[in-house]
Amino acid sequence: MLAIIGGSGLTQLASLDLIRREVVRTPFGEPSGALTFGRLCSRPVVFLARHGYGHTIPPHRVNYQANLWALHQAKVDAIISVASVGGIRADLCPGSLVVPHQIIDYTWGRKSTFHEGSEAPVVHVDFTDPYEQALRQRILRAAAAAGEAVADGAVYAATQGPRLETAAEINRLERDGCDVVGMTGMPEAVLARELGIPYAAINVVANYAAGRAARASGICFDSIDTVLREAMGRVRRVLDHICEA
Ligand code: HPA
Repeated sequence: MLAIIGGSGLTQLASLDLIRREVVRTPFGEPSGALTFGRLCSRPVVFLARHGYGHTIPPHRVNYQANLWALHQAKVDAIISVASVGGIRADLCPGSLVVPHQIIDYTWGRKSTFHEGSEAPVVHVDFTDPYEQALRQRILRAAAAAGEAVADGAVYAATQGPRLETAAEINRLERDGCDVVGMTGMPEAVLARELGIPYAAINVVANYAAGRAARASGICFDSIDTVLREAMGRVRRVLDHICEA
């Protein structure tokens, strides 16, 4: 069964035929919300709103361990993360969809492993390729079939938030080789890897990253909601095609 973790702009899936909601507990605490089981194009899927269904949990407070463990308990065999980002690379303007291929993690103080505690042996997972290649390709094929333009590959900078970055920080991220910036990609991706669940992401560019817009002033918040609403419609069509394939 496919799991979809929805971020800002995607707190529910309109095309999901709802079967049941399940409140689950995990050894790591409570996930962001109930798991929503349903069918997308007649395939079973489970949906989880990363920031809670009322969008009340900020990126640094998301219980990533509980979210991933809950999906693991539900025996999902793949996770697609949908997350909004700021665009750093020039071609990734607001409204663009991109399937990232790499991550640089700038977050701190988040619980980023299941393997800790006095009795737990230390485990070092291979994270050379943080996103599962076959799942990335599945998303890209579905996007092509749906006729939706999706960029193939980007380096995702995971920042701590919840504040947005300074222009100098974005310049630094660009020098580091980052193409997009978001606040929730880590430790979500590595926890999925620790559990052996294939994980890939669809990033939705909500805004130009700080200092990147043509206008010299700050981030334009007014347009973000409109951009996300329109772009999430395209994401839903891609997800429908993934389930149809
Ligand atoms: N920075 C970090 N996270 C984000 C942004 C941004 O500009 N836009 C959407 N999520």
